[in-house]
Amino acid sequence: GADDTFAARLLAWFDRCGRHDLPWQHPRTPYRVWLSEIMLQQTQVRVVVPYFERFVAALQDVGALARAPLDEVLALWSGLGYYARARNLHAAARRCVEQHGGQLPRDLDALVALPGIGRSTAGAILAQAWGDRFPIMDGNVKRVLARWHGIGGWPGTPAIEKRLWTIAAAQLPDRRMADYTQAQMDFGATLCTRYDPACIVCPVHDGCVALREGRVAELPTPKPG
Ligand code: ADE
Repeated sequence: GADDTFAARLLAWFDRCGRHDLPWQHPRTPYRVWLSEIMLQQTQVRVVVPYFERFVAALQDVGALARAPLDEVLALWSGLGYYARARNLHAAARRCVEQHGGQLPRDLDALVALPGIGRSTAGAILAQAWGDRFPIMDGNVKRVLARWHGIGGWPGTPAIEKRLWTIAAAQLPDRRMADYTQAQMDFGATLCTRYDPACIVCPVHDGCVALREGRVAELPTPKPG
């Protein structure tokens, strides 16, 4: 698209200020991207990095993970918490061996059918591993989109969440999907934060409805109750 789209401006910002040194980016294989996304579901990047390095050093691909005893997988996960993630990871690797030739499938629905992978994680895997054009939708992305489009109401509401998915799909770039996916995470985590967002230096402040209308602090609308 044109140089001034949301995606183009986010990518230009990512080139200057994004994270390019994450271990799952080098090399960016489907297995490594998958493992990183599962670890990052409930754990911050700086905590995940050493666990990720240790895990891939011990279990280097889907086949090795599938062959490993569950105890070994849980030992490698020990300290990360939310151990259902490790059990699901192991079960999913075994399913990949049984049903997908020992590889992660390059297919959204097939990925979502695996334990531990929802629609957003599936999109994050496909976009980063293969450059396929799928949106992601975590708390950071919801906050960014609610602000930029000035969408009120709790983003966990099904109708609002559906609208956010549609918007996210509509503003994907034509290329550089791996970088765009990481850019959204980095942007939400470092600039468009819940409290004290850095609107002054924001690469997409032109066009941000919340900024224009003075609603940045009140969006996204908190969960009621
Ligand atoms: N959370 C989920 N995926 C992530 C990623 N690739 N980088 C940072 N945070 C994330």
